[in-house]
Amino acid sequence: MPSIRVELGENSYPIIVDQGVLNQLGSLLKPKAKSEKTLIVVDAIVSKHYSRPVLESLLRAGFDSRIVEIPVGEEHKSLEWFAKLHDQLIDRRMDRSSTLIALGGGVIGDLAGFVAATYMRGIPYVQVPTTLLAQVDASVGGKTAINHPKGKNLIGAFHQPKLVLIDVATLQSLSPRDIRSGLAEIIKHGVIMDVPLFDQIEANLDAILDLEGSVLIDIIARSCADKVKVVTQDEKESGLREILNYGHTFGHALEALTDYNTYRHGEAVAIGMNCAAQLSVNLGMLDAADRKRQKNLLQRAGLPVHFPSEIQPEQLIETMYLDKKARGGRLRLILAKRIGGVMIRNDVDDTTIAEAIAQCMKD
Ligand SMILES: NC(=O)c1ccc[n+]([C@@H]2O[C@H](COP(=O)([O-])OP(=O)(O)OC[C@H]3O[C@@H](n4cnc5c(N)ncnc54)[C@H](O)[C@@H]3O)[C@@H](O)[C@H]2O)c1
Ligand SMILES: [Zn+2]
Repeated sequence: MPSIRVELGENSYPIIVDQGVLNQLGSLLKPKAKSEKTLIVVDAIVSKHYSRPVLESLLRAGFDSRIVEIPVGEEHKSLEWFAKLHDQLIDRRMDRSSTLIALGGGVIGDLAGFVAATYMRGIPYVQVPTTLLAQVDASVGGKTAINHPKGKNLIGAFHQPKLVLIDVATLQSLSPRDIRSGLAEIIKHGVIMDVPLFDQIEANLDAILDLEGSVLIDIIARSCADKVKVVTQDEKESGLREILNYGHTFGHALEALTDYNTYRHGEAVAIGMNCAAQLSVNLGMLDAADRKRQKNLLQRAGLPVHFPSEIQPEQLIETMYLDKKARGGRLRLILAKRIGGVMIRNDVDDTTIAEAIAQCMKD
């Protein structure tokens, strides 16, 4: 079984990436679990597809397990559902030997992960991510959070899972738009640190979009390994981990300005990556040919690369300053030096940034 080990001392854990492994969750968890009690947290759509094989697998392995279904949507990554889940854990008399299982996309992973981080000061949990974004990004790194009415992910904790089980077969039921959105993050990993991964996506894009199992396993495992490399060197986000935000400072601002209801996260990141590359070219850091190569791949993957014309560059910059990445009052930008290498800069003036944004409305 292809597996990546996340080395974090006593918090170490494996990420297993394979096809058709959902029904092995029970046997994989058995040697790690301290008691039979588990609770599966899942949203209503994912539940229809995958609750059954997961529950049956747990029962077969001798676990005592139940399902809690959360309504679908980012708005339920909330204080209300955080409290309701705690009620469930208390009602079921779960304790620090019990295991919580997050089955779903990033919304479920973040919510269930944060509940696991806080209930009785922290109980074990397992991530079974079912969107491409969650498989290569949200389930790796131990960040958990819920939203506050005043902002996304404002309340959270670092809490590492005991196991991440990625079954690429679950992607068969995911919408093509969500596949593309997740692919943006994989392409990002290629640009920031992994040329062979970038080459592999370029060469196998059709097979990836056709959801061919073997190539999916390859690029997902490789992408996870890249993120793991970064987060194991910087578990609590003090420096290096910032490079994962390539394309995100622009992307987050675009998501916020469009009320989080126009773009999927990966789509906003794709536009942000194109803009970060344009800015890098303007600053003489990146070859125009490399920017074009990144843009071509994003477009071939069906991702947008242009800001909508109704966005004002100044307004976008203002929103970027509100993002938590603007430490100490200066914008910290992750800029590209080449495909496979980035650097952090905080000395770029707003006019130069605004020019790049304006260019990225049409180019
Ligand atoms: N913790 C982190 O490091 C981290 C990183 C990136 C994103 N996130 C968070 O992740 C969230 C976004 O995650 P997401 O894009 O996975 O969204 P999501 O969890 O809302 O899933 C998107 C949609 O796909 C459906 N779905 C999930 N798996 C499916 C499957 N296999 N088949 C059919 N439908 C399926 C869901 O029901 C939902 O409607 C955001 O809240 C974001 O803040 C967290
Ligand atoms: Zn992202």
